[in-house]
Amino acid sequence: MARSDGTGRRGNLLAISDLHVRHAENQAVVEQLRPQSPDDWLLVAGDVGDTVAQIEWALRLLAARFAKVLWSPGNHELWSLPADPVTLRGVARYAHLVDLCRAIGVVTPEDPYPVWEGPGGPVTVAPLFLLYDYSWRPEGFDTPQAALAEAHRTGIVCTDEYLLYPDPYESRSAWCAARVAGTARRLAERDPALPTVLMNHWPLRREPTSILRYPIFAQWCGTETTSDWHRRFDAAAVVYGHLHIPRTTWYDGVRFEEVSVGYPREWQRRSWPPGQLRRILPEPDGLPPTAW
Ligand SMILES: [Fe+2]
Ligand SMILES: [Fe+2]
Repeated sequence: MARSDGTGRRGNLLAISDLHVRHAENQAVVEQLRPQSPDDWLLVAGDVGDTVAQIEWALRLLAARFAKVLWSPGNHELWSLPADPVTLRGVARYAHLVDLCRAIGVVTPEDPYPVWEGPGGPVTVAPLFLLYDYSWRPEGFDTPQAALAEAHRTGIVCTDEYLLYPDPYESRSAWCAARVAGTARRLAERDPALPTVLMNHWPLRREPTSILRYPIFAQWCGTETTSDWHRRFDAAAVVYGHLHIPRTTWYDGVRFEEVSVGYPREWQRRSWPPGQLRRILPEPDGLPPTAW
């Protein structure tokens, strides 16, 4: 449905994440994604696919349908799987994906932040790539080494440990620190008159991870350094995924939207069909559907 806010501005700022098109069932979900109006923008908050070919397939399809597509990488995009003919690692792999996005007209965290001028705007829309730094550790585990050892002991270890290389950084934490510092600089340079919509694959605050089935997994989910970014950078809304727990929560009055599709075994258990695009702007009326 085309929306107008009474000033002639039309369209919706929509969001989704964790398309995981490695799964055929999820490919079918992506094939059904359509804008609600010709002016809609789509935020894609990472974990599109596991190989460059899968990522390109999905982003090309979406870029052809939506007025603008913005992408932030998830951990799956950054995996270097032995089966992927593109063998790049770490920063080089990310740079390759940025080049691919630019070639098909998709906005990346490396591009100027576009301004949404539609209903609910004007708002600066910032796709971010921040990674994680093992600062969200379980209580009683004071160092990253201790938390990681406990994860190995309990068998809850993120596959990133084996497939997400930080090259040329010495660690994923070091890459995260560089991303956080560079991104904070860029956000500080934005037009201060406009609020923002911040999109990052990993949540900016730790609270959403408290309902993970295995809370020890939180060490792969974000960084404490961004806990005040929703206020510091005047966010009208924050979009994220990664947890595969779609829902809406508020922190300091700011709306946080977890917009993941997740794996077939996850969405097949839910009471609503997969692939519903979450409306970020204009702000939804009233409370979100109880489904999340
Ligand atoms: Fe995911
Ligand atoms: Fe993820």
